[in-house]
Formats: sequence, structure tokens, C-alpha cells
Amino acid sequence: MIPGPRGWTALRTILDLRSDPLGALIRLQRNYGNILNFRYGLVSRVLIFEPAAVQRVLQDNHLNYDKNSPFYHMLGWFLGKGLITSDGELHKRQRRLIQPAFHKARIDALIPMIVQTTQAMISNFRPGQIIDVAAEMIGLTLRMIGQALFSENLEAKDDGIGAAVEELQRQMQQRFRSLFPLPPVLPTAQDRRFRAVNRQLRALIARKIQNPQGDNILSALHGMPVEQRIDELITFMLAGHETVANTLTWALALLSRHPAQRDNDMHRVVLETLRLFPPVGVFGRHALGPDELCGYPVAKGQLVSTSPWVLHRHPDYWSNPEGFDPDRFLQEPVKGSFVPFAAGPRQCIGNYFAVLEATTVLQTLQQHLQLELIPGQPLEIDPQITLRPRGALWMKVRAAG
Ligand code: HEM
Repeated sequence: MIPGPRGWTALRTILDLRSDPLGALIRLQRNYGNILNFRYGLVSRVLIFEPAAVQRVLQDNHLNYDKNSPFYHMLGWFLGKGLITSDGELHKRQRRLIQPAFHKARIDALIPMIVQTTQAMISNFRPGQIIDVAAEMIGLTLRMIGQALFSENLEAKDDGIGAAVEELQRQMQQRFRSLFPLPPVLPTAQDRRFRAVNRQLRALIARKIQNPQGDNILSALHGMPVEQRIDELITFMLAGHETVANTLTWALALLSRHPAQRDNDMHRVVLETLRLFPPVGVFGRHALGPDELCGYPVAKGQLVSTSPWVLHRHPDYWSNPEGFDPDRFLQEPVKGSFVPFAAGPRQCIGNYFAVLEATTVLQTLQQHLQLELIPGQPLEIDPQITLRPRGALWMKVRAAG
């Protein structure tokens, strides 16, 4: 039988996972090893922390797994049937249709936009000024995703789309924290608010579909039903905004703590930041049939999850796992040990875009200025759907030199 906490220990584990999820996941790996199993509410879960098993679920035996689980059903309340939440034939067809929009050459063509948008932000900074980098990066990545999807500055247009995306994000966080999340169909104030924001965001996106501007990711979605296009666009906005903002905030904090790395290659700095602070801390799959993982049988219907947070600091696969060392990426990591974007046919469609965007922003920032952490601020993580910084992160602007 797969090992794991039982009885009172299982209850303690659940409380631990609620109060300190990242620490609890690490303790589970230390106490039980690379595979374990426990019940959370009515649901039995298997956790795997063995890169080869992760590689098997995501890639080698991916046909045996889908996303039929409470977590993805809940995400579906927000994202409809976009690429993250769809499954089977619908997912396969949509992924094939959308893939060309994220082709390397098309994403490379966004570099001038990324540089300009970053330079416009920098032009508002003065040496000596103290800025909240977390908030600045949220604003910057919203402007960039708006340009990439619609060729528009969402903030400057001020049609409410930025505010609606952030409100939807807040609503998602609240529901995911609940032990018994219910679909937002009740006549309560919170559910009404959710439905209103959702309607508003859909209407705003529908308007953009009717009045397309330029050549962008939206134009690559022509030919699919409008409702499907809206689901895909909401998915891109929610998946491609805060994740990149978090990466940038953590990277800037790490560079301030390790100034010698400011001259290093920013692409490697981004990868090392994604290792230490993976924006998606946990993800999982549902087994369509029996399988064998880490030498244990796994039953049909079993939910199997893993955690980039744990895998990326697994002492068997990383030397000095807590250290910030971008040069470790001079070598390829062991397959399945570095999965900030998952892997296999359902890996993040925006991975090349996200890394290019973060790398280009950091390079542009470095050319113009240095950001220094105001001392006394711990790098505290708020583990929500994404691992985001807790509150503001204050940094001082200095001219580059
Ligand atoms: C650093 C930034 C990002 C990280 C860490 C990240 C991470 C991930 C992860 C872990 C998954 C797999 C989720 C799962 O299996 O449930 C995923 C899927 C996805 N991501 Fe990202 N992502 C990032 C940026 C983006 C961007 C910029 C976009 C689009 C503009 C995007 C769009 C998507 C989509 C559409 C999927 C679903 C793919 C599929 O199942 O076919 N992501 N992402």
C-alpha cells in the first residue's frame, strides 16, 4: 500500500496543509518519501515527488490522465472551457488551432512591444524613489498581455477590463480558500458579484472580438465560436498575467539580494527564479485507468498531484537547493525535476512567451536602473492559486552604473 498519514496524523496533515501549504508539502516528502497517499475531505489523493513518475504522468503515459477533478471543475466556473480546463477531443482540437499563435517567431515579434512597455514604465521612475515592485509588475504584465492579445493598452483605455480581471482573480482566491466551495449560483451578495463581474468581463471581451485591432493572438482565434474564443481569451488573461508578474517580482528581489548576478544572463536568472518561486505550486491529474508509479499500483479514478515547489528543491536532484545559482541551468535538469510549466502535451502554451517576456523586461530594467530591496523585508509568499508575494515589496530606484 502507498504510505501516507492515517487517522489523527492525516487530520493534522490537512490542518498543516491549510495553515502552511508549502512547508507542509516539504514535510510530507521528508516524512513519507516520493509517493504518498491521504484523504482530503471525501477525496483520496496521491502525491508524487519523483521526477520519473512526474514525467510518466505528464508525458510518457499522458493518455491515461485527464483533468476531471474538483480543482479543475472549480477553475471552470471562471475559465469556462478554455485550454486549461478543457479535456479530450475539445482540448486536442483547440490546442491544435491555437498553437500557431504561440509559435516562437510570432512571440519573438513581440520583443519591441515588451521593450517599449517596460521603457514607458521606467520613464515614470526617478532615482531615489521607493516603489512597490509587486504592484508595478502586475500593472506592467497586464499592459503587455493586453498588447499581445488585443494590441491595446488595457489600462490607458480604461474600459474596466483590467479591473474586471483583478476582481475575478480575487473572487477565485476566495473560493479556492473555502473547504466546501460551491458553484457561484446562489442569490448571495458574493455570488451575485461573481456573476456580475463575469458577465462584464465577457461583454468587454466580446466587444474586442467584434472590433479587432492589428495582428495579435486574438486574430489567430478566428474561425472558432465566439463563446469559445471568449473562454480562451479569459484563460490567457488569467494565466498569463499574475504568473509573469510574480516571476519578475521574485527575480528583482533575488537580484537585489545577489548583486553579483546582475551581470549574469537574464534568461538563466529567470529559470532559476522559476525554480525557487514556481508561480504554480501544485497541479494534478485524474487517472482514467490503472497505472504504476514509483513501484506502487495506482487505481483507476485516482487523483495524482505533484508540486513544483517540492520537486524544485528536492535534495536528490539539486545541489544546494535553497541557493540562488542561475548557472546551474548551464546543464539540463533531470527530466521531470524542473516543471514550472508542467510538461508533455498539456504543458503551458505560454511558456516561451513567459520566459521571453520576463527575460526582456529584466534586460531592459538592468540597462536603465537598479532596484534595491528596502532592508528588513522578508521574501514572504502568499500561497494562493499562484505563489505570489505577500503584500507590497518595496524597492528603491537607482540609476544603472
Ligand atoms: C511564468 C509564467 C507562467 C507559468 C509559471 C505558467 C505555468 C503553467 C502551468 C504549470 C500549466 C499547466 C497547468 C496544469 O497542468 O493544470 C500551464 C498551462 C497553461 N498556461 Fe501557463 N504559465 C505561465 C504563463 C502563461 C502565459 C503567458 C500564458 C498565455 C498567454 C499561459 C497560458 C497557459 C495555458 C493556455 C495553459 C493550458 C495549456 C493546455 O492545457 O493545453 N501561461 N501554465
